[in-house]
Amino acid sequence: MQASKPILLALLALSSLASAAQAPATTKANHAAAPVLAATPPMGWNSWNFFARNVNDQDIRNAADQMVATGMKDAGYIYVNIDDTWEGDRDADGVLHTNSKFPDMKALADYVHSRGLKIGIYSGPGSKTCAGFAASLDHEVQDAQLYASWGIDYLKYDLCSFRRDQMAAKAPNDKAEQMRMMVSAYEKMGKALKDTGRPIVFSLCQYGWDSPWEWAPALGGNLWRTTGDVQANWGSIYNIINQQAGLAKYAGPGHWNDPDMLEVGNGKLTLAENRSHFSLWAMLAAPLLAGNDLPNMKPEVKAILTNADVIAIDQDRLGRQGTHVYSDGEVDVWARHLSGGAMAIAVLNAGSDRVATHPFHLSLARLDLHGPQKGKDLWTGKDVTLTENMPIELDSHDTLLVRIASPK
Ligand code: GLA
Repeated sequence: MQASKPILLALLALSSLASAAQAPATTKANHAAAPVLAATPPMGWNSWNFFARNVNDQDIRNAADQMVATGMKDAGYIYVNIDDTWEGDRDADGVLHTNSKFPDMKALADYVHSRGLKIGIYSGPGSKTCAGFAASLDHEVQDAQLYASWGIDYLKYDLCSFRRDQMAAKAPNDKAEQMRMMVSAYEKMGKALKDTGRPIVFSLCQYGWDSPWEWAPALGGNLWRTTGDVQANWGSIYNIINQQAGLAKYAGPGHWNDPDMLEVGNGKLTLAENRSHFSLWAMLAAPLLAGNDLPNMKPEVKAILTNADVIAIDQDRLGRQGTHVYSDGEVDVWARHLSGGAMAIAVLNAGSDRVATHPFHLSLARLDLHGPQKGKDLWTGKDVTLTENMPIELDSHDTLLVRIASPK
């Protein structure tokens, strides 16, 4: 017997429902929410720490080339970020143009993309950037649209002149009002970026003012600076590390505490200091934005920046930032919980060399660990077993970084 038309239609509808139910995940994903932007802390390179004001188009192209040639890209460094000093003047329509150092931003973005990388740019909510170039005040939507039209993937938005020309000028005696003005300026750019429809990582650079970890995620911030500017010396780096304790609960996939960009390979940092800097940034689930001279990177610096085991700690998909567990004199012990029940432990010696006469004794009990723990020393690559009160010799400013796969 042939089915009547209405029955046929009903059968067809049923069978399409059934095939939809069996459709592969890829088909369903079309309707799923967009992937989380900055699901792990952003990794890349930024021009400021090495070039400061002297960066130009060719430097950015060279950086992109070097990211590929050195293996940085393969290690996970994806963003090539232009910091301050690319900006020119606005035309009669308010459209911002680049200055002569950056003749064609769209072409530069295309070049960076052609290397399989992403590109970042810089502005701020005030009338001027920190280096005195045009910033986005009253042009937020226009600028966000411009970035999107160039193919920009990341914006670092730096408070700078907004403090003076807006906050201090408009609410000179009302600090709370100044902070509200600051938050709403960041909100404005967060919305403008979102409205472009392009996924653009939003990096707040306002030096940790007014506890941005409490309000930045809600306005679309993917990362926010927690402190003032990092410098390429141990004092600056260790000072910043100490200011991160207690912030772990605010970090997670899509939104990260930013203790500022990396100085690994810059200034007079020793190898031990470079290792400690990189180890602690990984423990802190910090964005890893290298800031060194890529074409002249020394092999030992490259070995630190591309250590896959250390990067894996930073990029752990759980996104749980490490915590400071205890200090004993000038030795600090940090721990981080990782996916799969694993754990990372960092023992940082901020004091003088600890040698065989009076080594550091690691307390596993204070880490809530019981009995010998099998792990891997991520800087030597060798297996280690940690035991209660074991003596540890550690050079000044160096860090022992151990991953324990199955902590007990
Ligand atoms: C501020 C920021 C730095 C850098 C400069 C550029 O100081 O904190 O990271 O972007 O401005 O002028």
